[in-house]
Amino acid sequence: MSNIFPCTKLTINQAASALLNGNLVAFPTETVYGLGADAMNEKAILRIYEVKKRPKNHPIIVHISSEELISKWARKIPNYAFLLARRFWPGPMTLILARTKLAKDFVTGGQDCVGLRIPNHKDAIKLLAGFESLGGLGVAAPSANIFGKLSPTTADAVDEELGEQFNNTDIILDGGMCGVGLESTIIDCRFKQPNVLRSGAVTNEMIEEATGLKLSNDHMSAKIRAPGSLRSHYSPNADIYLDGIPSPGDGFIALRSVKTPKGAIRLAAPEDDLQYARILYHALRQADKRSIRRVFVVLPQLGGISTAIIDRLGRATYRG
Ligand code: TXA
Ligand code: MG
Repeated sequence: MSNIFPCTKLTINQAASALLNGNLVAFPTETVYGLGADAMNEKAILRIYEVKKRPKNHPIIVHISSEELISKWARKIPNYAFLLARRFWPGPMTLILARTKLAKDFVTGGQDCVGLRIPNHKDAIKLLAGFESLGGLGVAAPSANIFGKLSPTTADAVDEELGEQFNNTDIILDGGMCGVGLESTIIDCRFKQPNVLRSGAVTNEMIEEATGLKLSNDHMSAKIRAPGSLRSHYSPNADIYLDGIPSPGDGFIALRSVKTPKGAIRLAAPEDDLQYARILYHALRQADKRSIRRVFVVLPQLGGISTAIIDRLGRATYRG
């Protein structure tokens, strides 16, 4: 039996109660689908690790519905973090901040910092607000995929990845395909200057413009654990090639303006970089479903969200 439910007032309320009762709820956000659990419930969080087959010392982002909850989870918040929050939340951005006592080791991976995000998706916000109205303080949610694999951008993809391990009290909320399609930008805000730990739709230029600060990249934050920062990550089963010419039967992804080489199987032809980001993971999943072994990708030009596309594809290709 499938645990997928369309997002309605009723199902979202049921999902909020399910979270409070220690169950898992996979839910849509504008970036990718998250696998949520009550951020205060150790047993529920342990199930996230189990279901995702994720090493236990990796931290999980806490999702909240409004800025009012920031100070429950984080302290010593620099002014530039408020500037970022005001500009880009709700949105595809996660801030890493010094934690309060509320953020337990089981959610921070034993580190002294917590990752916070307010997603920009109406159903996600309804779920988070519903959960908070029942007394919850935050929903811990990594991407709803097996560790190291592609993040899901549809409810069906969540079901294919994790459905078998769900109990009948766990829920997958279907809110359609994610609009951004790549995981949030992660910004370490514990030092004088912001440091980008994972690129995303909130770009370096946007961060510098919003804060009036230059980004830093040479301080302690490089040492914190962030699985998205492993060199090999975000991988489909197919091998990805960023150069070379596909043979007949190989998959091919490029902007619409690039012609499909003879015999190659066109998996996606996005009009622009934003659409490229939105459909990339879906297209790579299609390759796996069709047992295509090799996918040739023509990268978009660097800049804007392409930086994140190129980052993810670089990790997907790495076989070291
Ligand atoms: O777009 C997203 O960020 C999605 C949606 C569901 O919100 N979530 C997501 O979670 O991509 P995950 O766990 O797959 O990747 C989150 C990254 C991980 O690399 C994790 O290590 C890092 O955020 N992270 C979370 N909390 C952290 C913390 N306290 N300190 C350092 N890194 C943290
Ligand atoms: Mg992930």
